[in-house]
Amino acid sequence: MTFSVKPIAADRLPELLRRMPKAELHMHIEGSLEPELIFALASRNGVAIPYASVEELRSAYAFTNLQSFLDIYYAGASVLITEQDFYDMAQAYLRKAAADNVVHTEMFFDPQTHTARGVSMETVVKGLHRACVDAQAELGVSASLILCFLRHLSEEDAFETLEQALPFRDLILGIGLDSGEVGNPPEKFARVFARCRELGFHLVAHAGEEGPPEYVWTALDVLKVERVDHGVRSSRDPLLMQRLAQDRIALTVCPLSNLKLCVFPDLASHNLRELLDAGLAATVNSDDPAYFGGYMNENFTQTFAATGMDARHAYMLARNSFEASFIDAPAKARYVDRLNESFERFS
Ligand code: ADE
Ligand code: ZN
Repeated sequence: MTFSVKPIAADRLPELLRRMPKAELHMHIEGSLEPELIFALASRNGVAIPYASVEELRSAYAFTNLQSFLDIYYAGASVLITEQDFYDMAQAYLRKAAADNVVHTEMFFDPQTHTARGVSMETVVKGLHRACVDAQAELGVSASLILCFLRHLSEEDAFETLEQALPFRDLILGIGLDSGEVGNPPEKFARVFARCRELGFHLVAHAGEEGPPEYVWTALDVLKVERVDHGVRSSRDPLLMQRLAQDRIALTVCPLSNLKLCVFPDLASHNLRELLDAGLAATVNSDDPAYFGGYMNENFTQTFAATGMDARHAYMLARNSFEASFIDAPAKARYVDRLNESFERFS
């Protein structure tokens, strides 16, 4: 990293964090459904939801672990029926991302949550893709899609989902793995990930969120992922930390998610700073921002306030987000130039 970051006063750090251009590499588009939009779509589609009001729904967002969140998250996604619903959801997120100076995003989607209810892959992918195209034109945000397999379902189900997605191959940048981690290790999906690799998809997987460091090892060595989503439990294994640092495997860390799902007791105990200081390519992301109390800039400002990280950490995180993205080298270089300019202008 050749750019030299000048120190800035602590009281100006939040403004720097908000203004700097950044990429978001770990967010589930279904996790951007705000309660207001859930109610609007439920009413538009005549879908019943077991909450009387937006306030009552929001007050149910008190999670004790990943599964307690996933139960509500999958229920919330049941209001999505038409292509326009998927468009509206993604457009709302992309506008919020643009306001946070996110200039590039690689969004996860969970097609099995929808196809299991009779919504077609075509409806899902076309609605989301159209929002991505419009975001470039209207907001200057480049956006692409990563299809995630649900790991609590079978590998056979994942293979079927892959088949359904192949007609839209050109609209899908990569493949990921999400949902309940413990008891569903990466190697359960070894064959389907091998096939996705042959097909030329980029590969990522959630690992080391609630699961042990062994799951991060097998995500790397069996699934051959290029980035690890979360990965915060890696700090329990010094050899794994060495491997991640040496190979510059990015971890897409989600501090507010980890707080809300009780992965860490408070933000001051979060290990993001430790990961960065150990030379890992960590990034900051929002995961499911409508459920976890904040989009990108909230994740940055709250985590920096709690951990005492400084402008150098801010630069590393933003730079890592571009370096770890799946855009081509010239586009990466252009984003890094923009980042450097924003730091120069600020100091
Ligand atoms: N799906 C949506 N958010 C998730 C998370 N944090 N972990 C695993 N699966 C998810
Ligand atoms: Zn996630």
